[in-house]
Amino acid sequence: MKALIYKGPRQVEVLEVPDAKIERPTDVLVKITTTNICGSDLHMYEGRTDVETGKILGHENLGVVIEIGNAVDRIKVGDRVCLPFNISCGFCKNCERGLTGFCLTVNPGTAGGAYGFAGMGPYSGGQAELLRVPYGDVNCLKLPPDSEDKENDYVMLSDVFPTGYHATELAGVKSGDSVVIYGAGPVGLMAAYSAQLKGASKVMVVDTHKDRLALAEKIGAIAIDDGEGNAVAQILELTKGQGADRGCECVGYQCCNQHNIEVPNLTMNNLVNSVAATGTLGVVGVFIPKDPGAEDKLAKQGQIAFDFGKFWMKGQKMATGQANVKAYNRKLRDLITADLAKPSFIISHELPLIQAPEAYKHFDARDQGWTKVVLKP
Ligand SMILES: NC(=O)c1ccc[n+]([C@@H]2O[C@H](COP(=O)([O-])OP(=O)(O)OC[C@H]3O[C@@H](n4cnc5c(N)ncnc54)[C@H](O)[C@@H]3O)[C@@H](O)[C@H]2O)c1
Ligand SMILES: [Zn+2]
Ligand SMILES: [Zn+2]
Repeated sequence: MKALIYKGPRQVEVLEVPDAKIERPTDVLVKITTTNICGSDLHMYEGRTDVETGKILGHENLGVVIEIGNAVDRIKVGDRVCLPFNISCGFCKNCERGLTGFCLTVNPGTAGGAYGFAGMGPYSGGQAELLRVPYGDVNCLKLPPDSEDKENDYVMLSDVFPTGYHATELAGVKSGDSVVIYGAGPVGLMAAYSAQLKGASKVMVVDTHKDRLALAEKIGAIAIDDGEGNAVAQILELTKGQGADRGCECVGYQCCNQHNIEVPNLTMNNLVNSVAATGTLGVVGVFIPKDPGAEDKLAKQGQIAFDFGKFWMKGQKMATGQANVKAYNRKLRDLITADLAKPSFIISHELPLIQAPEAYKHFDARDQGWTKVVLKP
């Protein structure tokens, strides 16, 4: 099969590799029809993780089941399914509580596994023609008959739509709340969209990329261009000097200042400063325990200089981590089916898998107009 392989920093290639196959009786084999490039892939692409060379990338996957293991009984050949980026067992202590992003079975010694990802287990990704799905009955979300027409909407259920929604859950967004979101990448845009779906009264999205901010405006959010004046000051101005009720971090450890220089504590401290006293912060942007490639001394050790005193004085709360995709994907699927959500509005490019290396280059550079790439193997 053809697959996109990580070869080293800023080097990926589409190569012919051995076909993915059923390895355990609980596996399902999926022929991939759509697979996305994610901002999370860029941490690996840039050489800022310990991902091994030769890994097949891709954790945002949708396709058709072409084979099932002997112990699979819910999923059938021919089902069209979307796969949560987290791989989970369904029966461990965390999975039982719905915390499938922290499965204790699939990546022993760590909490959480995923396709094609650094530190998330031995699983190959789906930027390929075929994908092996472990615990197929647990990990396949079945799609309704309109799934071919709405494929570009349903594929967002693999990660960014549930992850954006998770950011708003971690931040405790309720109807009527004002919400600030750092990052207008796919995840930040989906957080803004989720806040709108929940009935937030005011959604403010911060970034410096005008094309991305324009998409935020398109869904009714207020665009805050950090390049045109301090974002925190702009948010305070819009919230009577008090700050937003809730805040979401959708950028992560590679966040930058207006000059595109990485300042690892910038979004977290901006969040503390632009959320009101007693407000809640939801952090889905990725932060990692070690970042040897960072310029910053603290960041090399996975630390940031966090304004803890201000955070404490304001009595704020914070929640963090991987999205438990399975906790939301069924309900968000039903919103798409009912035409009440259309997350494909973030897509800028639909390309064949073979053009993935070029797409990585543009998406990584955050080139104008490259907001989200879907690949069709
Ligand atoms: N928790 C999870 O389960 C989960 C899932 C998917 C992605 N993620 C993470 O979410 C983050 C965002 O993902 P994405 O796909 O949207 O990535 P992306 O890189 O496309 O978007 C990030 C955006 O943040 C902006 N940005 C950079 N510095 C900023 C700053 N100081 N203030 C405001 N905006 C700033 C960038 O201009 C960019 O538009 C990444 O860290 C990704 O790894 C987490
Ligand atoms: Zn992703
Ligand atoms: Zn589990």
